[in-house]
Parts: sequence; structure tokens; C-alpha cells
Amino acid sequence: MSHTIKPVEPARPTFAGEVSGIDLTRRLTDAEVAAIHAGMDRFGVLVFRDQHLDDEQQLAFSRQLGALEKATGDIMAEKDRRLSMDLNDISNVDKHGELLPRDDRRRLFSLGNMLWHSDSSFKDVPAKYSLLSARRIPATGGNTEFADMRAAYDALDDATKAEAHDLICAHSQIFSRGILGFDDFTDAERAKWAPVRQRLVRRHPNTGRLSLYLSSHAGAIEGWPVPEARAFLRDLTEHATQRQFVYAHVWRQWDLVMWDNRVTMHRARRYRADEVRDMRRTTLTNEVSSLEQAPI
Ligand code: OGA
Ligand code: MN
Repeated sequence: MSHTIKPVEPARPTFAGEVSGIDLTRRLTDAEVAAIHAGMDRFGVLVFRDQHLDDEQQLAFSRQLGALEKATGDIMAEKDRRLSMDLNDISNVDKHGELLPRDDRRRLFSLGNMLWHSDSSFKDVPAKYSLLSARRIPATGGNTEFADMRAAYDALDDATKAEAHDLICAHSQIFSRGILGFDDFTDAERAKWAPVRQRLVRRHPNTGRLSLYLSSHAGAIEGWPVPEARAFLRDLTEHATQRQFVYAHVWRQWDLVMWDNRVTMHRARRYRADEVRDMRRTTLTNEVSSLEQAPI
């Protein structure tokens, strides 16, 4: 079957595409794989509707696009996990499928997804694509928003572009959770999630476009006083998440949404604590650090 990729919103022709004519439960043809990569380079976010994937199918599909990263950013102890380490559990249920209590540590940690971020920017080698499959969604709320960090970079004034050009930020989940007042980390977690270095401006290896590499995990800029760094990062985030740069995805069950973490930020929106939301994420590794994707 032939496939098409069209902008999700006609008014936003270069950000967020909707793919039709591809069945992700089956092995993809080489042409389909190539079309998905080309679509990602163009749109940064791709939406696939009605993809009734189970975990094995999601893994098989994801592996056709590249190497996966492990879910080592999760706070869930391995014995409590419901999913393999190849899947990130983006849900509010425990391994028996029961809703997590409102004050459960795992739930409170996962609320960090409501802050604008880029996946795994707290890892030396961060994420390339994230692929999120909606297995069960709440009746209302729980949208996911995406911001186009290429357009946001392009819209900066020249002085700010020059100032940001060579900066290196420190990223850690300790920083992002601290914003929400979550500091319930063990010593082992603090050691595991010690800050890593990422460029603030990075170049996409295929398109050559520059983007702002922001994330709520970023809590410092090398060589800068911390309050000044955080004020600057906050200012840039405010700029980058203005409505004209943002696509808000309203989920339907069995949607699969894929985004390129090199050129986007995203965040979850609120939903009720007493309704199940079960999403599962596979994540392709970027294979290299952002330090190796310097702007030129
Ligand atoms: C993620 C994420 C947002 C959401 O899966 O990485 O941040 O809306 N999800 O669940
Ligand atoms: Mn995320």
C-alpha cells in the first residue's frame, strides 16, 4: 500500500506530519523505513493513527529504525517493573495494572514529564527518536505538546544566537525533579544521575539545521553563575514554547507518535490521578553525544 505524509495542521506545514498507509504491526519495506526517516527530518514529529501494537510489535518496529536505548532513566526498581528494560513505562499503574496512589514516589517522579524536556538529555548519549504508543488513555486531558526547536532557534535575534552558540549545559534528572520540589533520591540514584554535558545549540546531521537543545534537565551552564544560567535557560524555554512553535497532540487510543529529540521538546499535560493512562515508549539512542553535533 502506498503511504503519504501530510502536515497534521495545514497552518503548520513544516512541523508534525501525519502518516497514512503504513501498518506498523508488520515488517516495514525499505521504502517505508526511508520514508519515515525522511518524514522525521522534515517534520520532527510523526503521528500514526490506529496502530494496534503489542510490546513485541512495538519493539520490532522500533528496531527497524535504529538501535534502542535502555530505560535506565526510570526510577522504578527492576523488581517492580511491568515492562522490559527496552520499554519506558509512561503510565500511572503498577506491575499489577493498579493505579499508583496519588503520593506514590514513582508517580511523583513521573510528573517530571509535565515539564518541557528532551528525552534522556540527562544521559551522556541522549535519545534520538522516541516512539510513544497509546494503549489506554483517560477520558479527558493528558495531551502531549511538542515544540519545534529549529524554528525557535531561527527566530532568536543574532546577539542571542551568538551568545548561545558555544555554550555547554549540565543536565540531570536531579535538576528537573528539583523544579517540582521532588528530592526523594537515594545516594545510588544521585550517583547514577550525576550531571552530563550537552551543547545548547546543536546541528542536525542530515538536514544541517541548528536547534536549541533545551530541557528541564538542564540546570547549569559551564562558566556561568547558576542563577544567571537558569534565568537564561528559562528565558530561552519561554521563547521556544510560544504557541506558534507548539503542536498539541490530542491522543486517541492506538496512536503512535514519534519525535526527534534533537529538534523538539515535549511535555505531558495534566490528567486525573484516578484514571488509567497507559503509554509505552521505545527510544532510539542518538549513538553520539550532542557535543559531537556542534553548529558550524
Ligand atoms: C515521554 C513523555 C509525555 C506524555 O514519553 O517521554 O514525556 O504525555 N511523555 O506522556
Ligand atoms: Mn519525555
